[in-house]
Amino acid sequence: MTVAVIGANGQLGTDVVAAFRRNGETPIELTHADLDISSLEWTRRALGGVRPSIIVNTAAMHHVENCERDPAHAYQINALGARNLAIVARELDSKLVHVSTDYVFDGLKKAPYVESDPAAPLNVYGNTKLAGEAFIRGALEKYFIVRTSALYGRNPCRAKGKNFVDLMLKLAGERDELRVVNDEIVSPTPTAELAQQIAELSRTDQYGLYHATAEGSCTWYEFAAAIFEITCTRVQLNVAGPNEFPAKVPRPKYSVLENRELKKLGLNSLETWQKGLMTYLTHSPSPA
Ligand SMILES: NC(=O)c1ccc[n+]([C@@H]2O[C@H](COP(=O)([O-])OP(=O)(O)OC[C@H]3O[C@@H](n4cnc5c(N)ncnc54)[C@H](OP(=O)(O)O)[C@@H]3O)[C@@H](O)[C@H]2O)c1
Repeated sequence: MTVAVIGANGQLGTDVVAAFRRNGETPIELTHADLDISSLEWTRRALGGVRPSIIVNTAAMHHVENCERDPAHAYQINALGARNLAIVARELDSKLVHVSTDYVFDGLKKAPYVESDPAAPLNVYGNTKLAGEAFIRGALEKYFIVRTSALYGRNPCRAKGKNFVDLMLKLAGERDELRVVNDEIVSPTPTAELAQQIAELSRTDQYGLYHATAEGSCTWYEFAAAIFEITCTRVQLNVAGPNEFPAKVPRPKYSVLENRELKKLGLNSLETWQKGLMTYLTHSPSPA
């Protein structure tokens, strides 16, 4: 079995490579320097040389403000890039695992979203990711679309820098007081766990659309409070006022996903967000 991981030096990609390695595979690691998924020819050339049985795509343009500023570029990568991968996966008879997002939903449901809920993205990022999903579903049978949420991992996110956990700990070392929003509800998901889930799912032939996030949900304020409690960090944590950090781009206020399809198959291996956070803070080496 040959596995190719695209975005292999990204926050999630590095953990996907590690998860396959733990399972005895030697994945081919492809970075942006090796291919640009928005080019069909380049994608065909890079993957054709490897002929992987499994392609895992973690690459995306996912900085929400940048997507809003340059929707054409976001569409090229998130929508046409996904289409290109689906075309090449079909040509090579490879399975395609494609990572998508909770931002395909508008957040109005106020109960965990399941895979069959209608999507209604609020911004360019969500729209282009949803278009990418549609291209894959239309072009390929052997796909796993894996929607996830609020990722944090040992390796910094290439698009956004430090993850929320490390940012909070850094800021707590610099300031006496921190103010964090309490009106956005998410399921913070460790990339190490998601990567393991992706590796497990990709071995099956249970193709389709999956939600894969940590169990349970919290606001960013509650997440910050848990970070400081576990690490015994002394800082005054307060709830930010309603207009203190005005969002430049509309985002769902509630984007909790239920891993219903994984659970139906008995494959859900994601822990609660509290347990995932504890593992991250107590087992991972500190990032530089
Ligand atoms: N981060 C989150 O909180 C979050 C939440 C939900 C879903 N997701 C999804 O999770 C996935 C992984 O996110 P992440 O946090 O691991 O992001 P990341 O650290 O920014 O990694 C993304 C990777 O994709 C590469 N890339 C970007 N454009 C490319 C292109 N056109 N062709 C080939 N490679 C390209 C980047 O390389 P360069 O940096 O060199 O361009 C980088 O290696 C994305 O699909 C994202 O939409 C993320």
